[in-house]
Amino acid sequence: VAPLRLSIIDAMEHHQRFASLTVVAAARTPADLLYPGELERWSRDERLEVRVTVDAAGPGWTGPVGLVTDALATVPIDPRTVVALVCGPEPMMIAVAHDLVTRGVEPHRIHVSLERNMRCGVGTCGHCQLGPLFVCRDGPVFAYDRVAHLLEVREL
Ligand code: FES
Repeated sequence: VAPLRLSIIDAMEHHQRFASLTVVAAARTPADLLYPGELERWSRDERLEVRVTVDAAGPGWTGPVGLVTDALATVPIDPRTVVALVCGPEPMMIAVAHDLVTRGVEPHRIHVSLERNMRCGVGTCGHCQLGPLFVCRDGPVFAYDRVAHLLEVREL
């Protein structure tokens, strides 16, 4: 949620420009959720639909338990107009992007925030390299059509 928080707030402030806004957030446990208070506030805001899921419920958790892709599958989308902003562990982002593509979303409408191991941050050390790209210099946010083939390569 952290890299997308300001985008979410900005979209809420300009909600009239969107047919709908949905946040799908997930964590391993309820205690691992970032910004739980904000998620709670957003869930009461009529400008936004919020779905929160966890891999394992803790005491007092009454929400859904399951993968983020399970929660995403319950969100109605128009693949012709949807824009998806995705952040989190790379395997999760790949799974989410794959599911969206399967639902007819063009890959260029999916934006992934890659959080590779960065050192220099200016494109010289190579720690963040993804094939021909340096995440620090060329990203860290990429349209999925630009990186999908690279993310499929193990250990790249
Ligand atoms: S962090 Fe050094 S090249 Fe990206």
